Amino acid sequence: MKSKQIKKHVRKRYSRFAKENTGCCSSCGPCGSDAGEQTKAIGYSAEEIEQIPQESVKGLGCGNPTALADLNEGETILDLGAGAGIDVFLAANKVGPKGLVIGVDMTEDMVEKSKQTADKYGYKNVEFRLGEIENLPVEDGTVDVIISNCVINLSPDKPRTFQEAYRVLKPGGRILISDLVTEGELPDEIRRDFDAWAECIAGAMEKNAYKKTIEQAGFQDVRIVSQNTFHEPGLAENLKGKITSVQIKAWK
Ligand SMILES: C[S@@+](CC[C@H](N)C(=O)[O-])C[C@H]1O[C@@H](n2cnc3c(N)ncnc32)[C@H](O)[C@@H]1O
Repeated sequence: MKSKQIKKHVRKRYSRFAKENTGCCSSCGPCGSDAGEQTKAIGYSAEEIEQIPQESVKGLGCGNPTALADLNEGETILDLGAGAGIDVFLAANKVGPKGLVIGVDMTEDMVEKSKQTADKYGYKNVEFRLGEIENLPVEDGTVDVIISNCVINLSPDKPRTFQEAYRVLKPGGRILISDLVTEGELPDEIRRDFDAWAECIAGAMEKNAYKKTIEQAGFQDVRIVSQNTFHEPGLAENLKGKITSVQIKAWK
């Protein structure tokens, strides 16, 4: 499958979600009754959801990276595939006015929406940039922590994405990635399906290969800090038990 076509499908899908009030039952996350419920099902607490603009809560993730990233005041954070900004706003609250959180996303409507939300609520320590995670619009060695939530599975070039993450991190910097991976191989017809790719399934890598890709980019101490089997009511029978949601930490 060609990278260009994959990205076209992915952009189309997330452009639609940027304009809708909910991503429920049509996203990468498990389906709840609404975006808030769906977001709780992914692993966010009610308190966390209350602290951030509701416009950013769309239930599109598959984990809660800021909860595990040990963010400190004053740090510079980069969110790969920030979507409507849920993790950017949570991180912004943690790093405070001396910190900075940059969200990168390749879907123009998502970036526009996030910028409007930041302006509406007066967030001064966030920046949303249009760009691809395979070619990050970020300078070398400038970021303390990279987070990402259910995005790297959508990338047609995962080695390049992790190389870029390594490039922009400061020495000693860390990543905390929430993503979907597979247990074993997926059926070929799923791998070739653009919709399944945009739904975060077809592009998911086998778990050990994913860890190895991170190591090969130069990261050290690559660890799965938590994992659970991904359940979604709409998940096809032949995929049940084969998709795992992982939270992975590693260091530069
Ligand atoms: C499943 S959503 C997750 C959004 C957000 N991280 C969250 O948890 O709500 C995936 C997002 O990643 C973006 N995305 C997918 N592939 C990308 C790429 N190669 N480069 C930049 N952004 C990408 C999409 O536009 C979309 O906004």
